[in-house]
Amino acid sequence: MSDTHIKSQQIYERAKKVIPGGVSSANRLTDPNLVFTRAQGAYIYDADGKQYIDYHAAFGPPILGHSHPEVNQRVVEAINRSDLVGIGANELEIQLAEKIVQHVPSAEKVMFCNSGSEATFAALRLARAATGRSKIIKFQGCYHGGHDAVLMNVISPPEKVGHKDLLSAGMTPEVVDNTIVLPFNDTEAVAQTMREQGDQIAAIILEPIPHNIGCVMPTQEFLQGLRDLTQKHGTVLIFDEVITGFRHGLGGYQKISGVTPDLTAMGKAIANGFPMAALAGREDLMHHTRPGGDVFFAGTFNGHPVGVAAALATIEILERPESYQCLFGMGERMRRGLQQITGRLEVESTVAGFGSVFLIYFMVGPINTYSDLLRNDVSKFITYRKRLIERGIYELPVNLKRNHISLSHTAADIDRTLETAEEVLKTLS
Ligand SMILES: Cc1ncc(COP(=O)(O)O)c(C=O)c1O
Repeated sequence: MSDTHIKSQQIYERAKKVIPGGVSSANRLTDPNLVFTRAQGAYIYDADGKQYIDYHAAFGPPILGHSHPEVNQRVVEAINRSDLVGIGANELEIQLAEKIVQHVPSAEKVMFCNSGSEATFAALRLARAATGRSKIIKFQGCYHGGHDAVLMNVISPPEKVGHKDLLSAGMTPEVVDNTIVLPFNDTEAVAQTMREQGDQIAAIILEPIPHNIGCVMPTQEFLQGLRDLTQKHGTVLIFDEVITGFRHGLGGYQKISGVTPDLTAMGKAIANGFPMAALAGREDLMHHTRPGGDVFFAGTFNGHPVGVAAALATIEILERPESYQCLFGMGERMRRGLQQITGRLEVESTVAGFGSVFLIYFMVGPINTYSDLLRNDVSKFITYRKRLIERGIYELPVNLKRNHISLSHTAADIDRTLETAEEVLKTLS
């Protein structure tokens, strides 16, 4: 760490004494390991007072921008009225469930929880209970949280592609064995697996756009193929819209693609950075989770007024007609600008993204599946981002990570980013 990060360094050293590795979540330790002490709108500020335009966005939640005054105000009003009581229903959570049912095509009923991992865990258990089957299919490159059934094969090294690539020690072998990992966008691989084992497969789970490896767009044929195959074999189709939900539209990517899953996991941008997640889906499936039903679903903090109030405020702002127009417009401005610059400088690259998400891969396309991304120049990818950070633009310096634009980013922020990107790209040989 350089001389300009003295306070970050001091705080981090103190953190390491009481927190393993000094951070509370695996992906928060990066080089340079900065500590941020303020976040406002499109900007974050490190402990030494330096401002950065933030595109990391805490892995995606603050879609309106950090510390949004309207959201914060609604949270304060809610907790001044009542904090968590933990019995019966609460008016605000009903309103939020109504909003989700109104907007998300697959949502006939909704259950609230606190993290994306809880939502995908509940979705898979529910699928297993409803089908009486044990196996599931996930795709190489998709991340669905930290539980045993899915914590594998995300950003895998080449030698692990096509094999189980477990991301933690201590995972239960029986659970791991029941997960089949297939290549994304490969309808035939799924069709063959379903022909051979369809009667044992409880669920297919996917990020409709695998944003945990940047932005790999699904083909319409693939999404529709999954819908058709799951219907044919009585398998539950789960869209993990923890990133795509609310970031790309109030109805998630399912609304955009016109392919409606049976269950949907949501989180991240739903509450602009406050803890909130949800599982929604078909009424007959969701019915299993009612009190007294055969699928256990509970949590002390489920439907906490803080997250619920934040989500309601966030959704109401996103419902304004200009919101997604603005987010998508800024995304377009960024991607178009980066394409022009990389073209002009003849950088071997692909500018990818959708809506408010963007990134540069240092490789030429086509990019249809994870294996294609093994051609990405990792060293360039990370060096580029570290040099942006030195110049006050924060893109997470970790391979394949996506960037997010919020409603607080202005055209001037995008243009400054583009100027800086050009300056940095010229330094990369
Ligand atoms: C697509 C997807 N699903 C699930 C999760 C897990 O969510 P959480 O970290 O809130 O448990 C994540 C987190 O990054 C995610 O990107």
